[in-house]
Amino acid sequence: MKIKVLLVDDEVDLVNVLAERLTIRDFEVSKAYSGEEALRVLGEIGIDVVILDVMLPGMDGLATLREIKKKIPLVEVIMLTGHGTLETAVEGMKLGAYDFLFKPVESQNLVEKIAKAYRRKSEQEDRIRNAEIDRIMGPVGDLAAGIAHEINNPVAIMVEEAGWIDDLIKDEDFSRPENLDELKRSMQKIRSQGERCKEITQKLLSFARRSDPRIFEVQINTLIEELVTTYRRRLQSGAVTIITDLEPLLPVIKASPSDMQQVILNILNNAVDAIESDKGVIQIRTRIQENWAVIDIADNGQGIPNAQLERIFDPFFTTKPVGKGTGLGLSICYGIVKKLGGDITVESQVGIGTTFHVRLPIAQAGGIKTEH
Ligand SMILES: Nc1ncnc2c1ncn2[C@@H]1O[C@H](COP(=O)(O)OP(=O)(O)OP(=O)(O)O)[C@@H](O)[C@H]1O
Ligand SMILES: [Mg+2]
Repeated sequence: MKIKVLLVDDEVDLVNVLAERLTIRDFEVSKAYSGEEALRVLGEIGIDVVILDVMLPGMDGLATLREIKKKIPLVEVIMLTGHGTLETAVEGMKLGAYDFLFKPVESQNLVEKIAKAYRRKSEQEDRIRNAEIDRIMGPVGDLAAGIAHEINNPVAIMVEEAGWIDDLIKDEDFSRPENLDELKRSMQKIRSQGERCKEITQKLLSFARRSDPRIFEVQINTLIEELVTTYRRRLQSGAVTIITDLEPLLPVIKASPSDMQQVILNILNNAVDAIESDKGVIQIRTRIQENWAVIDIADNGQGIPNAQLERIFDPFFTTKPVGKGTGLGLSICYGIVKKLGGDITVESQVGIGTTFHVRLPIAQAGGIKTEH
């Protein structure tokens, strides 16, 4: 993903020279020759950093800066100034400009300042995103974590003890074998129900934790291939077919591999659950869409009624019978994907099938890397 820069100056030659230098350094450059034009461009395309001349014909630099900050507060602006207009540039900083640059502009300085401004923008976006996730998920997440934590230990002990009784029974000499069978059945039940509790608390914890902080460059295609290979083995043969169609040029994304596995696995599990016939097909596709790596997971299962569509990402929303679904799978996916700056959406038609789209930001290419 390239950093998008908008150059705003009425000196056409200067704009061209700077544009050339920045393009070579792998920036995506747009040009504007007046404040009005800059605002128009900003309205049309997503810009990360604006290089804004203080002296502009018509709407001047400061007025343009005010408008930019009003319209798109997260865009970072670097003021371009000569020594005569330094005071104005300082004034600009008070109005929210990130920094200023003296003319004639020195390339290295320009590139460094843009990179720093971009980093600040990304950090601010992360903060806003996390605050939003915390606002929605925080209270439920804290509660879930608390409960899961408290229940985990006693349940683990119960399961252990049940296993121990099982072992003891094996060594005892029981004279009435019908009671022995009943005891064994009962023990088995305690163990399997205990395992189910552990599974639920595990899910609650991963929901509350929401994401793994260990971020790597992840090759989504490889991850999908590995996951599907093991998943196919787990499926009962014949009932469900999984097809993959992976974009060979898909760039890496930055994420925790185990989190990404969880996202795909939860969606796959739901797809398998939704398939009732013996002609079930799940198609996993990857593709590039602008700056996103997109994973589409489609099934030809029962579909989701419209009334339920907007609730499926809610924690604890499930249509599955007690003992089968906890309703946490998709809310875990949602938390993970949103935290990465991505997006997860769904399309569904009852009786036809469901497609989930997971969009993830492609990792920054070129010399300038963001620090997360
Ligand atoms: N591919 C799908 N087809 C049809 N319905 C789906 C699909 N994916 C999700 N759903 C619906 O969304 C609900 C919520 O899904 P989610 O994964 O969050 O919870 P769950 O599968 O019920 O339980 P859990 O994943 O915690 O075991 C499901 O109960 C189901 O009704
Ligand atoms: Mg699920």
